[in-house]
Amino acid sequence: MSSTASLTLQTALGARFRGARARTMELTEPLTPEDMMVQSCPEASPAKWHMAHTTWFFESFVLREFLADYRVFNPDFAWLFNSYYESFSAFPEKRLRASFSRPGIDEVLRYREHVDDAMERLFEREPEPEALRRIELGVNHEEQHQELLLTDVLNAFFTNPLRPKYRDQGTEGTREKECRERGSKGARERAETGPLGFTEFAGGLHEAGHAGGGFCFDNELPRHRVWLEPYMLANRLVTCGEYAEFMADGGYRKPELWLSAGWDAVKANGWRAPLYWTEKDSAWNVFTLRGEIPLGQLEATPVSQVSYYEADAYAHWAGKRLPTEFEWEAAAEVQPAEGNLLDSWDLMPVPAKELGQSANHRHLYGDCWQWTASAYLGYPGFKPLDGSLGEYNGKFMSGQMVLRGGSCVTPARHIRSSYRNFFSPETRWQFSGIRLAS
Ligand SMILES: [Fe+2]
Repeated sequence: MSSTASLTLQTALGARFRGARARTMELTEPLTPEDMMVQSCPEASPAKWHMAHTTWFFESFVLREFLADYRVFNPDFAWLFNSYYESFSAFPEKRLRASFSRPGIDEVLRYREHVDDAMERLFEREPEPEALRRIELGVNHEEQHQELLLTDVLNAFFTNPLRPKYRDQGTEGTREKECRERGSKGARERAETGPLGFTEFAGGLHEAGHAGGGFCFDNELPRHRVWLEPYMLANRLVTCGEYAEFMADGGYRKPELWLSAGWDAVKANGWRAPLYWTEKDSAWNVFTLRGEIPLGQLEATPVSQVSYYEADAYAHWAGKRLPTEFEWEAAAEVQPAEGNLLDSWDLMPVPAKELGQSANHRHLYGDCWQWTASAYLGYPGFKPLDGSLGEYNGKFMSGQMVLRGGSCVTPARHIRSSYRNFFSPETRWQFSGIRLAS
């Protein structure tokens, strides 16, 4: 790479780093220090932990190795805020993160500042290519935690008997308000969601995985050939109204619709609706980051917070199936990665506009991650990153399903057609929804 090209990359990366760090802080603005302590389910983490752990990533994988005179902020943080990197250090049990009343929020903020200042010193010194690669990974890592921060706050507020709103219109910053108004205006201009339509795809030999330049995670490589039989893909996500019909038809009481492990989960957890649906006086409400909303107002809104098992049972009930990750990718690769993502500030799924024959299935990205029928595995020839960072994705390649497309809380620049999210099939606290295929 020429030194000019390298300098351009460094400048762009510096801007992206600052943007990501500022965005995390912006997301915590509506939270009190007490809110930032809550870990309401074992798979979630307190906001304060997300703030510290994303900082730990830069300190551990960038500054300690690439900034010669870097002074570690607090030696204990090296293991305290390690999430799961076994080869890096020991770390505390995940389910105990709500116990970290110390360090206090002020000290975590000082930690962020300390690391941000050191990163600026590193940027001034023209970091070597490996340092730039790690910084880019760290920025993408922080963006992933921005989504988790919001899904974890939603869970925390749902379990709070007062059911607080993360955001309502009165508490927004000007920029956020402008973005949201633009987004909502767009949503209003969309016509009512029409009947579910399907687009036909010819199938054949396709390539899957990340292509060309730009960042991707190790699990998106290598690009490789896949064979697809002809298939049909729904032109929008399944809505709350449609999902309510499945429920009213006894969907949660018919074992014949469910995978065996899914039926076990229904019985063990008493599932009878998506995670944040509650019934009061025979009427359902849905809890969102904008508070509790009657189901009646969400008929055309994509259903969210369902497990893979629920998505699969719904598809079975509808006489359809879930797409494979490669069917989804072949359709999405030719579409711009646009949709209701975090940057529209809707903070919840919104209804899709009615799609005509020629509309070319535009709603592939955003609103909710879409469960696919594909198990999360390494692609042929998959090679994890070297060293501790090899634990980032590769070691989770068992017992999880792939989700595609991003959600209403995924930063817009974070998503792409080859992006693979993954969760275990019973997971419900993410913005996970349903796209049908046949
Ligand atoms: Fe992490």
